[in-house]
Amino acid sequence: MITIKKTSNPVKGSNLAIICEKFKNKPTYHFDNSVTEYITKQLSDPDKKFVSLNHLGQLIYVIIIDPKKDINKTHEGLRKNGSSITDAINGTKGKHLTVINETAKSSHSLALAEGLALGNYQFIKHKPSAKKGANTFESVSIIDSRLKDEQISKLNIVVDATIKARNLVNEPVNILNAQGLADAFKDFGKSAGFKVEVYNKAKITQLKMGGLLSVNAGSVDEPTFTIMEYKPKNARNKKPYVLVGKGVVYDTGGLSLKPTPNSMDSMKCDMAGAAAVGATMYAIAKAKLNVHVVGLVPATDNRPGFNAFAPGDIITMMDGSTVEMLNSDAEGRMILADALHFAKKYEPELTIDLATLTGAAAAAIGQYGIVSMGTAAERHTNRLKDSGHRVHERLAEFPFWEEYDELMKSDIADQKNIGGPYGGAITAGKFLVKFTNYPYYHLDIAGPAFIAGKDAYRTKGATGVGVRLLFDFFSNLYK
Ligand code: BES
Ligand code: MN
Ligand code: ZN
Repeated sequence: MITIKKTSNPVKGSNLAIICEKFKNKPTYHFDNSVTEYITKQLSDPDKKFVSLNHLGQLIYVIIIDPKKDINKTHEGLRKNGSSITDAINGTKGKHLTVINETAKSSHSLALAEGLALGNYQFIKHKPSAKKGANTFESVSIIDSRLKDEQISKLNIVVDATIKARNLVNEPVNILNAQGLADAFKDFGKSAGFKVEVYNKAKITQLKMGGLLSVNAGSVDEPTFTIMEYKPKNARNKKPYVLVGKGVVYDTGGLSLKPTPNSMDSMKCDMAGAAAVGATMYAIAKAKLNVHVVGLVPATDNRPGFNAFAPGDIITMMDGSTVEMLNSDAEGRMILADALHFAKKYEPELTIDLATLTGAAAAAIGQYGIVSMGTAAERHTNRLKDSGHRVHERLAEFPFWEEYDELMKSDIADQKNIGGPYGGAITAGKFLVKFTNYPYYHLDIAGPAFIAGKDAYRTKGATGVGVRLLFDFFSNLYK
């Protein structure tokens, strides 16, 4: 992982990125006249906002900021600039970059550094032949006198946590099953300082978590239910925030086997919600935020094994209600329902779930945002939406009208686990809300969790979506 730190003077000849409103040469840059002339000439074109050059092996970048532009857009542009600079540095086997921020806002250097660090991510642990092609970029030094140490350490933490989430999601099910996921959360708890308890199948059975057990019925691996709790002495909230993450470590669809070619290929990503919850717990504990948060993760794979739950089955859930299970590929809601019921005992201030829940959410808005809905008050949801804009993990709120409730009704049980052909992301949310009695917000991350190709600092495969969103949300709660 790239480390980000503060410094006061650029080392002569070190790779350099200068962020400014208008370029003005300074002696501290140690530029030859030819370099200054080249940059000035390039910037004589008023549309030119990014200059890059390689001067005898030294990479030099000048990024022009427009202070009138929307700040969130500027930050996202800087993250993307960061990612392309990272590619160039690795392309020349470089190790370091110094960032000089000449603008009025220190957030500009943080955004650039975030893009640099996240864009450097690689998942090559299972590819010995790629060792030679491994990234060489190691550290970023920022020159920006207004930057506080706390801002730098928070940035390092959230980058680290996002990478941890990506690593878990990219790991296939033959290497990381439900138990492996729970073990990873135990490690997070140990290294960041929060409590982790893992329920095994016997305990899950004793608690009558019928939804989780039904999905697990076709599996040879046992399910797990992980409870993470971070409760600092200086917590500002009386009632905890509860995070729930879908932990389907692999989704074949079960007996309702995923039908279309390639539709299963990326289904190791079906625990991206769980990974985001675990990594967020890690980040808030590492950063010692003053908020009490509980994280819950029900986990299992979903397979068509001998005793797999069968379409038509009637399942009694942990809350005692019944579900006519008509499609075993709508498994996420079955395991989440028990976790949402379990959350009631905390009397949460707010419960947020993150789940790669429906293809319908991905079909509706693609990889560019999170589909959201729920019953939480605006004072909560507005904060989440603001965080979404700040970190560019934007929320697209879907309607939660009562008409959709009708679609989940069953003649022989309290609910069905599928709705009609339309509004699939919403009917899934409608199913889940029945298991809540507290302010609730549902985040369907099926679109952005796992991407087919690199999108700047969102590298190919797992993106770690949700971690930066929630860390920003909790960081700004009591400001
Ligand atoms: N894990 C899938 C949703 C998914 C799709 C995640 C694409 C990531 C990318 C989920 O369990 C699922 O299969 N949902 C079904 C629900 C349907 C059967 C009601 C779907 O969306 O088709
Ligand atoms: Mn499924
Ligand atoms: Zn699934």
